[in-house]
Amino acid sequence: MNTKTFQKISYGLYVVASKKPEFLNGQIANTVFQVASDPPIIAVSINKKNLTHECIETSKIFSISILSKDTPLEFIGWLGFRTGREVKKFEKVQYRIGVIGSPIVLDYAVGYFECELEKEIDVITHTVFFGRVREAEIISEADPMTYDYYHKIKGGKTQERAPTFIKT
Ligand SMILES: Cc1cc2nc3c(=O)[nH]c(=O)nc-3n(C[C@H](O)[C@H](O)[C@H](O)COP(=O)(O)O)c2cc1C
Repeated sequence: MNTKTFQKISYGLYVVASKKPEFLNGQIANTVFQVASDPPIIAVSINKKNLTHECIETSKIFSISILSKDTPLEFIGWLGFRTGREVKKFEKVQYRIGVIGSPIVLDYAVGYFECELEKEIDVITHTVFFGRVREAEIISEADPMTYDYYHKIKGGKTQERAPTFIKT
């Protein structure tokens, strides 16, 4: 198998945020896509070990912020290479609580969705969460980041819990 073939799949880059009764948390994810339009449903694949996974399972709500091309690597590192089990991520991000109660990360966001958990599918290491979109807003007209741009132009890396991680 030529594992480099997987790198030809296109994605964007997002912050998925959710909460537990006592705290807010979020993480970077590239595996976001729209699966239906009426009603609008968005899917994301989240590693079972992530704190964000636990938050979505508990609260049944999550938000997805679409990151812009100018998002700094340090910001992606804070949410994508650190876990909320060790650091309080929301102390260093700008956010607001949306109409359904989910935390929405605003830094470098060109827009966001607020979702209620509709369905989930166990895929061994990850869970694919399907969220029914309850709110969607555009924040800026900046270009969204693509996964390709993140790797090739910004020199970004993939974290080992990302579904797209390739062991070398
Ligand atoms: C570029 C990039 C893409 C990522 N994509 C995903 C993804 O789609 N799904 C996932 O579960 N983790 C993904 N991750 C890894 C999580 O962001 C990472 O495991 C994070 O530390 C989880 O944080 P938490 O434990 O606070 O939830 C990605 C990381 C990076 C840097």
